[in-house]
Amino acid sequence: MSIKIGVLIGSLRKESFSKKLLKTLKEVAPGSIDLENVEIGNLPLYNQDYDDEGNPPSEYTEFRKNMKKYEGFLFITPEYNRTMPAVIKNALDVGSRPYGESIWDGKPGAVISVSPGALGGFGANHQIRQALVFLNVPAMQQPEAYIGDIADYMDESGNIKNESTLEYLKSIMESFAEWVKINKKA
Ligand SMILES: Cc1cc2nc3c(=O)[nH]c(=O)nc-3n(C[C@H](O)[C@H](O)[C@H](O)COP(=O)(O)O)c2cc1C
Repeated sequence: MSIKIGVLIGSLRKESFSKKLLKTLKEVAPGSIDLENVEIGNLPLYNQDYDDEGNPPSEYTEFRKNMKKYEGFLFITPEYNRTMPAVIKNALDVGSRPYGESIWDGKPGAVISVSPGALGGFGANHQIRQALVFLNVPAMQQPEAYIGDIADYMDESGNIKNESTLEYLKSIMESFAEWVKINKKA
């Protein structure tokens, strides 16, 4: 049976490169992992009062419950102002609480950043990694995945146009499948 991976995408826009990239990643990923997009755009901004008062929004409760079924996480994200987009940070925070009940704890992950610019979202990628250290998500070290100049490599339907980028994405997913297999909770 394949290992279920929850995919969190750091963009809400319709024509997002990050969203489109997931389609390709699903195509090139080994059959041992099953990538499933997780809705995070509906989560209200994190407010600790909700948890302290024992009355979290239904979206938090649903998200936290749903995330338990995943054995690993993949973050696909653009960079906003050299940092991670708020939608990703919010999901990380919501999932990390109530204290002691984090959904992330001990489950392996990987980060793929995307940009039409040359730097490939390096800043966002490493900011997410910084949070993953504290959240105890063993994040795949190599290959690093900064996908720059994405607009040049993708056609309008979101297909990757050149073979070398496709091969690179395939190698990332193969390494990730291996990483998840080795690091998943017993
Ligand atoms: C608020 C905002 C800030 C941005 N900051 C950066 C940035 O720091 N680095 C970068 O490479 N691109 C930046 N961009 C451009 C995004 O990479 C570009 O809009 C990209 O297409 C967004 O990803 P998406 O296609 O998945 O929505 C920014 C875009 C927005 C809207």
